[in-house]
Amino acid sequence: MEFLGNEMITVDGGNLKIDGHDASKLASTYGTPLYVMSETQTVKNFTRYVESFKEYSEKTGKEFIISFAYKANTNLAVTRLLSKLGCGADIVSAGELYIAKLSDVPSEKIVFNGNCKLKEEIKMGIEAEIRAFNVDSISELVLINETAKEMGKIANVAFRVNPNVDAKTHPKISTGMKKNKFGLDIESGIALETIKMAEKMENVKIVGIHCHIGSQLTYISPFVEEARKIMDFVVLLKNEGIKIRDVNLGGGLGIPYDKNTKIPVQKDLSKAVLDVIYEYEGKIELPNLILEPGRSLVATAGVLLGTVEHVKETPVAKWVMIDAGMNDMMRPAIYESYHEITPCTIRAEKEVVSVAGGLCESSDVFGKDREISKMEVKDTVAILDVGAYGISMANNYNSRGKPAMILTNEKEVSLIRARETLADLISKDIVPNHLL
Ligand SMILES: Cc1ncc(COP(=O)(O)O)c(C=O)c1O
Repeated sequence: MEFLGNEMITVDGGNLKIDGHDASKLASTYGTPLYVMSETQTVKNFTRYVESFKEYSEKTGKEFIISFAYKANTNLAVTRLLSKLGCGADIVSAGELYIAKLSDVPSEKIVFNGNCKLKEEIKMGIEAEIRAFNVDSISELVLINETAKEMGKIANVAFRVNPNVDAKTHPKISTGMKKNKFGLDIESGIALETIKMAEKMENVKIVGIHCHIGSQLTYISPFVEEARKIMDFVVLLKNEGIKIRDVNLGGGLGIPYDKNTKIPVQKDLSKAVLDVIYEYEGKIELPNLILEPGRSLVATAGVLLGTVEHVKETPVAKWVMIDAGMNDMMRPAIYESYHEITPCTIRAEKEVVSVAGGLCESSDVFGKDREISKMEVKDTVAILDVGAYGISMANNYNSRGKPAMILTNEKEVSLIRARETLADLISKDIVPNHLL
């Protein structure tokens, strides 16, 4: 088996290792379900972005900022690791801003996304003097301006525009088409009208244009189309007398969930996007460039370990039931997404099985009819590429505590999230006196 994109995984004598640590031993030491995040892989993924885009600053003298999309994984150890490497934060809530500040992300590397910002969140962002609120509607712009006025401050605003680009990805993670809820439409003139409104407001400062077309992009052409539409819009704004300091080109590079598919990587993205941006040299002052990847920074670094608890045969399938479930990792249940599954003791004999969790939902299935190395009860099983949208989407459905999480590098293993206890499950519930 080849673990494309998971350089931290090796197989030694049939045993799967993560950063050199035997996966079955990690499972017995920390218990399962267990998220394992590889520090080594995360650093590699981040460094590839930096290396691929560093020429932009060298050539233009402009900033290049990577703001990690916190929604992908907000474990404090992960966010602090990225922050220490120089990574910023793309946040969408008060909670994510709180975590970014705890992770020591400098204010000038924090951008605030989302299509329904609340006044309290806006206040926190203004207090934190973040780089920009990415405004998603006129109503948000008005609220930001009013809130800044009440605070006697000026808020930096960028405008999330909708370029109507088909990202060629799963419809549930496509974000930049007219039919999506996000952004200010460019073609109809709504984006320009909103920016002109902002020009007249006293408590906002226009700093940028933001765009996001979708997640798990496996083609480069939508990024190219996006970059061209955004740069054309920046030229249009210049002709209207509006200077744009930052361009934030969102749209998440995909990762090879299916190990048989080769998809573009960071250097393919930089080559394609920077070639478009350079075409605008001389027409406008080139902007600072911001990217906000989530998945491509952390997905490949994460593994979910579970234990085979039961095996059963039905007339149509052989089921392997594991102790991890859709509450721990929702992606297959909500997007029918594919994740590679392998036992951590890899045997030569293979068989076709379906791997399921134990929740009372038929969608609680991690993989259907997969030809996998034979598994036995008490084997440790690894579900790959769960470092993004894994623990951050985990929940307590069926009253199951969220799993523990460890961080590995070649030297050590650290517990970075304690397993939730039974007491945690009811810690926020209140029983009124008459029911005591
Ligand atoms: C606005 C915005 N920024 C960043 C991201 C992160 O995308 P990805 O994890 O694909 O890199 C998303 C994900 O949908 C998003 O909506």
